[in-house]
Amino acid sequence: MDAPKESGLRNVSSVCSIPEMDDFDLTKLLDRPRLTIKRERSFDERSLSEMSLSRGLENLDLGYSPGGRSGLDTPASSTRNSFEPHPMVAEAWESLRRSLVHFRGQPVGTIAAYDHASEEVLNYDQVFVRDFVPSALAFLMNGEPDIVKNFLLKTLQLQGWEKRIDRFKLGEGAMPASFKVLHDPERKTDTIVADFGESAIGRVAPVDSGFWWIILLRAYTKSTGDLTLAETPDCQKGMRLILTLCLSEGFDTFPTLLCADGCSMIDRRMGIYGYPIEIQALFFMALRCSLAMLKLDAEGKEFVERIMKRLHALSFHMRSYFWIDFQQLNDIYRYKTEEYSHTAVNKFNVIPDSIPDWVFDFMPTRGGYFIGNVSPARMDFRWFALGNCVAILSSLATPEQASAIMDLFEARWEELVGEMPIKICYPAIESHEWRIVTGCDPKNTRWSYHNGGSWPVLLWLLTAACIKTGRPQIARRAIELAESRLLKDGWPEYYDGKLGRYVGKQARKHQTWSIAGYLVAKMMLEDPSHLGMISLEEDRQLKPIIKRSSSWTC
Ligand code: GLC
Repeated sequence: MDAPKESGLRNVSSVCSIPEMDDFDLTKLLDRPRLTIKRERSFDERSLSEMSLSRGLENLDLGYSPGGRSGLDTPASSTRNSFEPHPMVAEAWESLRRSLVHFRGQPVGTIAAYDHASEEVLNYDQVFVRDFVPSALAFLMNGEPDIVKNFLLKTLQLQGWEKRIDRFKLGEGAMPASFKVLHDPERKTDTIVADFGESAIGRVAPVDSGFWWIILLRAYTKSTGDLTLAETPDCQKGMRLILTLCLSEGFDTFPTLLCADGCSMIDRRMGIYGYPIEIQALFFMALRCSLAMLKLDAEGKEFVERIMKRLHALSFHMRSYFWIDFQQLNDIYRYKTEEYSHTAVNKFNVIPDSIPDWVFDFMPTRGGYFIGNVSPARMDFRWFALGNCVAILSSLATPEQASAIMDLFEARWEELVGEMPIKICYPAIESHEWRIVTGCDPKNTRWSYHNGGSWPVLLWLLTAACIKTGRPQIARRAIELAESRLLKDGWPEYYDGKLGRYVGKQARKHQTWSIAGYLVAKMMLEDPSHLGMISLEEDRQLKPIIKRSSSWTC
C-alpha cells in the first residue's frame, strides 16, 4: 500500500478510458477542472454498427488489438487529492478490507455481512456473486485488480461443477449465487462450498449471477487493459456456457428472458416472475459485454451472430413495451381489448381496469421509466431501481429515455429517495395483495426489505446513472443523505418505511455491499472516468425506429 494509510485509498492513476462518451463530455458536467482525456479505440468499441451481419463476419476486425487497450495512459483526476475525503471513506475502506475472504492465502471475495451481533448467520457469511460486484468495482477503481481476477477465476471453476437439486441436474452454465470458504486449521486446508440455489431459501435460481460475472469480466478488462484474462479458453468457454443458457430456443414468443420468482437481487417471492426488468436489463448488458469480449473463432462467431439478433429484438421489445410515461399511460388507459391479428394496438391484451390507481398519481408530466414486467394481460407497473439504472448504463434506454428516468427521480424524490437512497421498488404491496403475491412473507411486509425497502447499495448504480446522464448533482444529494446516517447506523443492509427512515427490521449491520456501494459512488463522482468500467455507449444500430411519446422527444 503506497496510499495515505488512513483513507485506505491507493494513489493510482485511473486506467479506464471513456470511449463511450462520444456523445457528451462528462468533464463539462462536473464542476471540476477539465481532464485531458486521450481517446484511444478500446476493445469494446466493437459494436453492432461495425458488425452488421450482412457484411459477413469474416471481413470484420473483431480481434483484440493490444494497441486498442482501454486508455492506459488516461490521467486520473488531477484534483483527486485536492480536497479532504469524507471521514466515512477511511472507515468504509477499513470495513471493506475486514470483509475479505481468502482461499489458500489469496483474496477471492468479500463476505455479504460482517455482523457479529446478529444471532442468525444464515448465508451472510458467504461470498455472493451479486454482492461482490460493488466490492470488485471499488478495488478496481483503487488500482487493486488481483482480487477481482481471483474471484472471476474461482467462480469460473465453480461453474464447472456438476450441479444438482435433488435429482435434477442444472444447466452447465449456471453460476452460483454464493460460495463459502471452509478453513480446516488442523489439516491446514481450505475447501469451497457453493450454492447454486440448492440450499437457498425457496430454492431460488440466481439468474443474475452469470450476467454479473460477464459484466465484471468486462469491467476488469476495461479497467486494467489486461485482455489476456478474457481471452483465455476458460473464460471464453465460461461466457459461452452462460450464453447457451439464455439464448437457447424454446417456446418463447418474446425476446425477453422468462424467469421464476426470486431470481435476482430480490431473491424471495415478490411477484417478479415472468420477465422482470432487473433480469432483462442485466441480460441486455451482459449480451453487449460478451459481444465485446468473445473471440471470433468458430465457436465464438456463432454466438456473436445469435447475440446480435437477440439484441435487436430485445431492445425493440423493451423500448416499446416496457417503457411508460405520461403519454403512454394515457394510451394504455384508453386501450381497446380483445384485438385479434397482427394489427392489434394492445398486443398483450392488457385490460385498462388492471392499471393500479397509484400509477396515475405517480406519473409526472415529465419523466418515465421501464415498468417491472410485461406478459400476456399483465403489466406490473411497479418501478424498480436496479433495472432502470442498468438500463441507463447499458444504453438499453435511449438517451431520451435515460433523461426521462432521471426526471422521474427528481419529480418523485420523496417516493424514490426519501431519507435514504434508494427504494428497491415502488410502491410496496399491502394487505390482500401482499398475501397473494408474497405468500404472506413476514420479511417482505409493506415498505420493508424487498417490498419497498431502501437499499444503500443501490447508491452506486444511481450515481453511475447520474454521471452518465450528466446529472451529478442528483447523486451528490443522494450521497449526502447516505452520509448523514450510514456509518452512524452501522452500514445497514436496508432501511424500512415510506421514506426509508428506519433501519430495516431484520437488516444486517456491516453489510459489505452497502459499504462498497458508498465507496464506488464517491470514487465515481470524484473521477468520472471510472464510469467507463460499467457503462456502454449507445449503439447506433440499436437506435429506435419508433417515436412514441412526448418525453422521448423533448
Ligand atoms: C439477501 C438479498 C440478496 C443478497 C443477499 C446477500 O438475500 O436479497 O440480494 O445477495 O441477501 O447479501
